Amino acid sequence: MQKRTISDLLSKDFVSSEVDIKGWVRTFRANRFIALNDGSTLNNIQCVVDFENFDETLLKRITTGAAIHIKGELVESQGKGQSVEIQVKELKVLGDSDPETYPIQPKKHSFEFLRENAHLRTRTNTFSAVMRLRSSLSYAIHKYFNENGFYYVHTPIITGSDAEGAGEMFRVTNLDAQKPPLNEAGHVDYSKDFFGKETNLTVSGQLEAETYAMSLGKVYTFGPTFRAENSNTSRHLAEFWMIEPEVAFMDLAGNMDLAEDFMKFVLKYILKNNREDLEFLDKRLQDEDKAKPQAERNEMTLIEKLNFVTDNNFKRVSYTEAIDILRDSTPNKKKKFKYPIKDWGTDLQSEHERFLVEKHFKCPVILFDYPANIKAFYMRLNDDGKTVRAMDILFPGIGEIVGGAQREERLEVLKQRMAAINIPEEDLWWYLDLRKFGTAIHAGFGLGFERLVMFATGMSNIRDVIPFPRTPQNAEF
Ligand code: 4AD
Ligand code: MG
Repeated sequence: MQKRTISDLLSKDFVSSEVDIKGWVRTFRANRFIALNDGSTLNNIQCVVDFENFDETLLKRITTGAAIHIKGELVESQGKGQSVEIQVKELKVLGDSDPETYPIQPKKHSFEFLRENAHLRTRTNTFSAVMRLRSSLSYAIHKYFNENGFYYVHTPIITGSDAEGAGEMFRVTNLDAQKPPLNEAGHVDYSKDFFGKETNLTVSGQLEAETYAMSLGKVYTFGPTFRAENSNTSRHLAEFWMIEPEVAFMDLAGNMDLAEDFMKFVLKYILKNNREDLEFLDKRLQDEDKAKPQAERNEMTLIEKLNFVTDNNFKRVSYTEAIDILRDSTPNKKKKFKYPIKDWGTDLQSEHERFLVEKHFKCPVILFDYPANIKAFYMRLNDDGKTVRAMDILFPGIGEIVGGAQREERLEVLKQRMAAINIPEEDLWWYLDLRKFGTAIHAGFGLGFERLVMFATGMSNIRDVIPFPRTPQNAEF
């Protein structure tokens, strides 16, 4: 392992000391200046080679992408652009990189091209910055919950119930795909399958997390979830990571407070600890904006946007109020919405969510108390008998980033809601048990991790914030 990273060398103010460093060549110019990167920072360290003292065949092997080992002296830089540089004394090529075939050239590549080379794309500034931020955000998430008395629960990835109804699922089976065993009715006989029943990849850890909240009090899950929806959008993945806290004795207002406090904490954490990467991405977006017509440019820079979220209250609005606003809105009157808002009870489309957040309120919005029939069965029914204690958090540029609710804790009401949508009680006997033995109000939410990373990095396609995206027709790497 490397004892000292390039980040260490660049951050400490020592000069004239012996250094020993390994990394990948970004560029080699004038047969003299190597820009070396080891992933520890966005910045390369300049390594100066006195070419007269090195064999020409060795110098020829210093090409973009090659792994090299350098020993030398860290000195104040003679040139502009960096404060220190390494005077190279010893140089070893650890791994060659053929410049003819190495895909990542020192020039601007399109994100589409880099997606096809996802195994190498973190050798670029943009992707290394995004993935360092992704890592920092995960750390901040665990830190927040740990410091606030939550336990981390590992809910199962393979699930035996489609109770959640959050989306289409991926089947998990080891039956012979050519000749599966059939039952008398001619259907696949899953009792012969590995688990003795039909199983799928989970869409959410919530229902299991609820069981732990009702014993450990405050818990959260943070793991991969899977949805087989065929939605090829810039905000959907078939495999994504979700953070799901669940808290006993907490109501919907408490749930909103928790979500807001939590999101502000993790964004503040990166604003403090990932400044360099954020400033780089901020500049990238500003450059991108310059090429756009005025009307399409961002009103705020990335860092301004993050500060805006951490410094301002999220706007809390009921579904009913939101519908009134949307119905009276200019785009609705001018028939600009693809899905016009007519009646109370219709589900909101992302065009409506984005109007509320980006045009009307111009800040993060928490929508709550949705119509029962457009939300999940487990959400607590309000006294009006037609709305449930659901909440969605909408972010500028992203739309829905969080979905959550206060859960239905009353056994009879829950049974009625399950019956209404034909969920057999036997399937969820353990979930109903929570309402039989020591039931209590409780609430929680799910934050889509990649949508958070999109917001934090300003990336506009969800495929660019997860290392190896899984989307319809695509599971390369
Ligand atoms: O709103 P959803 O479906 O909520 C649940 O799954 C609840 N069980 C959560 C809970 O209460 N514990 O999903 C939660 C969030 C969404 O708001 C969105 O950010 C993200 O997960 N999400 C996706 N992200 C990427 N790709 C997809 N296909 C996503 N589907 C949902
Ligand atoms: Mg949702």
